[in-house]
Amino acid sequence: MQPILHQAHDAKYAIPQINVNGLIWIEGILRAAEKKRAPIILGTTDKIIDYLGGYEFICKLIHLKAQSLNITTPYVIHLDHGNSVESCIKAIDAGYDSVMYDGSRLPLEENIENMKKVVNYAHQHHVLVEGEIGGIGGNEDGLVNEVQYADLDECKQLVQQTQLDALAPALGSVHGRYQGEPKLGFKEMTEINEQVAVPLVLHGASGLSDEDLKKAILLGHSKINFNTEINIAWSQYIRQRLNADVTLFNAKEIVAPSIHVIQSTVESIIDKCDAAERV
Ligand code: 13P
Repeated sequence: MQPILHQAHDAKYAIPQINVNGLIWIEGILRAAEKKRAPIILGTTDKIIDYLGGYEFICKLIHLKAQSLNITTPYVIHLDHGNSVESCIKAIDAGYDSVMYDGSRLPLEENIENMKKVVNYAHQHHVLVEGEIGGIGGNEDGLVNEVQYADLDECKQLVQQTQLDALAPALGSVHGRYQGEPKLGFKEMTEINEQVAVPLVLHGASGLSDEDLKKAILLGHSKINFNTEINIAWSQYIRQRLNADVTLFNAKEIVAPSIHVIQSTVESIIDKCDAAERV
């Protein structure tokens, strides 16, 4: 993860993180990355890890699927919004390449203390660590939050005191659907980018304009997270297919073609992040 993240940071493009919501997501994401010759991050949110089968199961499944599809582009398995130090350690032991410890709701001192433990363990295992300051709004799989802008001084303290590798400063972005026009804090983003040494991560990217994504990339965002955009495209397809033929019940006939919807949505995200033809 470390070399591809820094390559993206230097060349001013972003690696998309696409959240996994089941087996067909893995296939759609990997096929898109391979076709586009793009590095890719497969994210699993801690909130739904039991539904996905657990850290070890999903990690092995991704590797086996990548092998069976002969994937040659670099792919990273990442824990999204790790709930606790223990869950990050479990993910690392299961073989994850990268973990996010989300201590953003805790007092800064506690976030820092816990983050130090995660970084210490992760770096011994060559695993990258992402942290968060402020509050990303909206709802992601039951993780509900108010928008709260990241404080520059807190960003600096978290990075300097913990040696984490990537920082997600919340600056108005939202998980799920935006209510009204998204308004990102580009002024604050400029300051954070100038004064924080690590690559930045943008959460809540579904629903942002191409122009906002471009600006965020130029202002240091080298990893951009998408979940909702793929889920909307996928669920629209399934809904239309079932409505179009109410006699349909064969599961494979319903589900298998939807992989192409996931793949094509991820391909367009790769283009928006300018990550195509990078490997
Ligand atoms: P969206 O809900 O906007 O797709 O954001 C996903 C995300 O940030 C995952 O951490």
